[in-house]
Amino acid sequence: MSLIINGSPEEYPQRFDTDGSVINASDGGVILVDGVYHWYGLRLRPLPFGKNGSGGQVTDTGVVMYASRDLRSWQYEGVILACDKDPQSPLCAPMRFERPKILYNKKTRKFVLWCHYVACPGDHGFIPGSAEAGIAVCDTVNGSYRFIGTVRPIDETGFVRDCTLFQDTDGSAYFIYDRQISKAFNPVLQPFERCLHIVKLSDDYTSCTDHWARIDAADAREAPCVFKRGGLYYMITSGLTGWEHNPAKYFVSDDTMRGWKPMGDPFVGDQNGTAFNTQGSYVFTTARGEFIYMCERHNTANFELCSSIWLPICFEADGRITLNYQHSVEITA
Ligand code: GAL
Repeated sequence: MSLIINGSPEEYPQRFDTDGSVINASDGGVILVDGVYHWYGLRLRPLPFGKNGSGGQVTDTGVVMYASRDLRSWQYEGVILACDKDPQSPLCAPMRFERPKILYNKKTRKFVLWCHYVACPGDHGFIPGSAEAGIAVCDTVNGSYRFIGTVRPIDETGFVRDCTLFQDTDGSAYFIYDRQISKAFNPVLQPFERCLHIVKLSDDYTSCTDHWARIDAADAREAPCVFKRGGLYYMITSGLTGWEHNPAKYFVSDDTMRGWKPMGDPFVGDQNGTAFNTQGSYVFTTARGEFIYMCERHNTANFELCSSIWLPICFEADGRITLNYQHSVEITA
């Protein structure tokens, strides 16, 4: 059993690697490979890059990774997708590989990373390079990922905002993202101007297919975390308030492409409507089959000190889920 400290909703507890350095891996995920858990995320910048943390939400390092067998003691494995100093490079820092997610593709035996890519200087926007999906591949989970490019799934009119990956039990994989329709095509704010969409990936996971769906029930939602248990697909999301925390809502379906049903707030007793000061990052499964909701308490005063909050998901007999905020949790690797 490993004790994970989440702290009170007002605290910013830190986790440390085996060298004693703060774990700085924002909005990533955990992937279990050969009995080793690999925790990865975007390395955010410390102060002083601007007032009130402004500028800290980008990276000049890239995506980093840590390894553990017990989910408690994390060894730093280094930068797996690195920024570049070359101004001509698409990876020129400061930039963002926001919300990176990694899946293993059994057919190609490669690890594939998708993220919300934002080119230098790392500002979300509407020009090419400011709202795309970025893709990188590697032969090993903790090697140097090769950036293979960017794409706007579905078509060019839809900007990529928050995103995640989901791998189904049949080996198929999906990119789920908050798609923002360009104002040029949608001059007046309309329903579905920002709505979560799901796109099936190619067999090698490195491109999108034309099999996709708009998840109408998830209009104006972001920070999607998708997982499957039994025959049901689940998606926990946040609202659209930037770094400000807001209530979580989840959706359930028995089909990735249709029938997503709103199920309300999974958090028990979220009286402040802030999801206990968290926003979702990912759901991973332990070797014993426990589902862990990873979420982040964004620290906008110093992004380097965001907290990663881990909560086991409780499944009710009727398929509903609940999240009970706990100051600390014990998780068995
Ligand atoms: C959040 C989003 C983050 C980041 C931030 C920037 O709502 O989930 O991934 O994009 O906004 O304002």
